[in-house]
Amino acid sequence: MIVSGSNSQVLATRLAESTGRSLARVDFDRFPDGELHASVPDVDADEAVVVASTTDSDAHLELLQLQDALREAGVAEITTVLPYLGYARQDRAFEPGDPVSVRAVARAVATGTDRVVTVNPHEPAVVEEFPVPATAVDAAGRLAEPLPEDLSEPLFLAPDAGATGLAETVRDAYGRGGVDAFEKTRHSSTEVTVEPRDADVAGRDVVLVDDIVATGSTMSESVGVLTDRDADRVFVTCVHPMLANNAVLKLAGAGVEAIYGTDTVERAVSEVSVAPAIADAL
Ligand code: R5P
Repeated sequence: MIVSGSNSQVLATRLAESTGRSLARVDFDRFPDGELHASVPDVDADEAVVVASTTDSDAHLELLQLQDALREAGVAEITTVLPYLGYARQDRAFEPGDPVSVRAVARAVATGTDRVVTVNPHEPAVVEEFPVPATAVDAAGRLAEPLPEDLSEPLFLAPDAGATGLAETVRDAYGRGGVDAFEKTRHSSTEVTVEPRDADVAGRDVVLVDDIVATGSTMSESVGVLTDRDADRVFVTCVHPMLANNAVLKLAGAGVEAIYGTDTVERAVSEVSVAPAIADAL
C-alpha cells in the first residue's frame, strides 16, 4: 500500500502504478486552530510505504501523523520515502548555539518507520542521521531525458564544486559533453556570486546542474555570467525544483532557456519522475 503525503500525490500515484501496489485513500484536514489532521481511513495491509516530501514544516508534522495512523491501524512494516528531505541543508551547527536540524528531523521521522529511502540529499552522509536503515537514491541521471538532442558542444556545469558529481552524472546520461564547475561564494541566504573558471562557453549550449534550486539565486547568477560570456542556450536542471518565492521570475529574467526538475518537489517544471528509481530501492 502506498500512502501519500499531500505534497507528493503525483509521485505517489506514479509509484503505485510502477510497483503494482494499491494507493491508499488519505484525508488531509485542519482544525480551526490550524492544527493538521491527516488520516488514512481504510488500511488493509501489513506493510505500507509512505511517500512524503517534507517541503515545509507542516509536511514534517503531516508525515508523523501518517506514520502514526498506520501504526495505530496495525501496519507491521512501514517504509518512509522522503523524495525531498527538508532541512537537509542544515546538516551542521554553523554558529554556536545552532541545532543540527536535519539530525533532529531524522530522529523524529525514524520513530515512526522501519526504514527510510530518500533521493539525492544535499550531502549523501545525511542518511547516517537516521537511527533506522536509510538509503539515498541517485536520480540525477534522469535529468538528461528532457534535454534537446541537438545540444551544441554541450558543457555540463556545476554552480559550485559540490555539484560536480551531479554534472558528471547528467553528462554521462546525456552521452557527450564537457564538465566544469564555477566557484561560488554565498553572501547571504539570497545573495551569491559565482566565478567562472577556464571553460570557454562562447557559442556553446550550457546545462547547469545542481541538487536543488531554492531561491534561484545561485542559478540566476550563473545564467547571467554565462550569458555575459556569450553562451548560446543555457538550461537549468536540478533534482529538487523547490523554486521558492520569485525563483522562476529570476531565472526567466536572467535569460534561461528552460528549467527541468524532478517530481520530488511537484512543480510545473517537474518533467522527470523519480518513481522508477524509488521503485528499484523498495
Ligand atoms: C548549495 O550548496 C546547494 O547545492 C544549492 O546550490 C543551493 O542550495 C541553491 O540555493 P538557491 O537557489 O537559494 O541559491
